Amino acid sequence: MEAATRNKKKQARDGACESIWQSSAGGLQTSPAEDKVYDVIVVGGGITGITTALLLQEAGKQCLLIEASETGFGTTGGTSAHLNTFFDTTYPEIDGDFGETASKLVADSGKEALSFIRELTGRYAIDCDFEYKDGFLFSQNKKETEQLAEILASSKAAGIAVEEAADNGVHVPFERALRFAQQAQFHPLKYIRALAAEFLKLNGTLLEHTFAEGAEFKDSVHLVKTADAVHQARHLIYATHMPPGITLANFTCAPYRSYVLGLTLKDDRYPDCLSYDMQEPYHYFRSHEIDGHRYLLVGGEDHKTGEGDPAAAFERLESYIRTYYEVDKIAFRWSSQYYVPVDGLPYIGKLPLGSDHTYVATGYNGNGMMFGTLAAMILRDQVLGKVNRYSELFSPSRIKPVAGFSEFVKENAGAAWHFVADRFSLEDLESTAQLKAGEGRVVTFRGEKIALYKDSLGKVTALSPVCTHAGCIVNFNPEERSWDCPCHGGRFDLSGKVLTGPPQKDLKVYDLNG
Ligand code: FES
Repeated sequence: MEAATRNKKKQARDGACESIWQSSAGGLQTSPAEDKVYDVIVVGGGITGITTALLLQEAGKQCLLIEASETGFGTTGGTSAHLNTFFDTTYPEIDGDFGETASKLVADSGKEALSFIRELTGRYAIDCDFEYKDGFLFSQNKKETEQLAEILASSKAAGIAVEEAADNGVHVPFERALRFAQQAQFHPLKYIRALAAEFLKLNGTLLEHTFAEGAEFKDSVHLVKTADAVHQARHLIYATHMPPGITLANFTCAPYRSYVLGLTLKDDRYPDCLSYDMQEPYHYFRSHEIDGHRYLLVGGEDHKTGEGDPAAAFERLESYIRTYYEVDKIAFRWSSQYYVPVDGLPYIGKLPLGSDHTYVATGYNGNGMMFGTLAAMILRDQVLGKVNRYSELFSPSRIKPVAGFSEFVKENAGAAWHFVADRFSLEDLESTAQLKAGEGRVVTFRGEKIALYKDSLGKVTALSPVCTHAGCIVNFNPEERSWDCPCHGGRFDLSGKVLTGPPQKDLKVYDLNG
């Protein structure tokens, strides 16, 4: 079989900022797809897609894994890689919205997913810096302390090993703290790359730099179109956060960006734990050693995609950490995208209103490494026709009117506003002359709305700002140098190429000389 090797240059990701993980890229031996009906096509080469493909290949299925860029290009290459048994949606919130039995199930699923990551690292002798750590959650005012007490009670009731702690693991003042035992961290790209290598050893097929342009279901077979072929499979799994097209997921999940700094300290006060404050949005801490150098990773300042000010978010994060730590150098700064689910829990399973045997996994909130792994376990069982005790709770078809809904209405209202108002009331600009080097903006040019970007040499690129998914207007992200859609999180690079679905088509390129 003819093989092609990805060259070993730095790992690519979906933004201009460099994440701390990208320096340790490795090549993968890939092979061409065969002209046959595969058992499963998995679209998306992040932790969800790769783990799912591996588990199904292990189970004897023939899988084709399709990735638009390189494995780890998306959120998995930009995560801060915390492995937790407590989640952004807290156990008291799950108790209130789904009931205490659901909380126990979520707790069990988290413990199972974390153990399973550990099991895979052992089974395949994966060197991915996996380490168990204590996880601390701490309050800083009366209201947070009351919430912390509720979290302690609900987490314990759900079966999570947690206790009050005298410390919070970081040099940040606090009122009360909880210690969650046996949390963990790892290097996400080393981990998924090793899983991908095992998938290939088991004769799985991986196509990188292959964009799934569309799919149809005919005579019980999925036909997935790419630039130079139509691939066939009995089952189709979208591990791309948002599945393509207009789906229910567009109305149940809202896209957010989270910011991370990787920095060195003037002293040696690197945290030997995972730690989280309770502010909104919260901040999180941990350390990681890369190429013999220790870094403190601090993250947070999340905001809805396409709406906040990325530069200001980085500034706030830097100011926050400098308040408590003697920063020597900020070596890395990057942001990454995740999806917040309307009722707090991820959607994993059969795609509602989709063709037969079409599956989706999305809405992980900030817990993608955990829920991505859990999704792989659930989807494997569903494809194999086995019962999985978590299927019903995480079903994308669940109908759950919950307290969080009113909050989500705001998200949807935001999306609706962008559908209409952005198209007609953006500030009109008469020429490109007002753009500085490195700046991008939606302007009016010859009567058309145009997304303009001027590079450092003064070259201007002109694109249609109309998102090819559902017609919202994209906004410029000056930090990641991308065009981000506020409606469902679609993102495009400076040349208009799709970086992040659900859009499947690139932005239209305008010829400025035409
Ligand atoms: Fe849906 Fe842009 S991602 S309209």
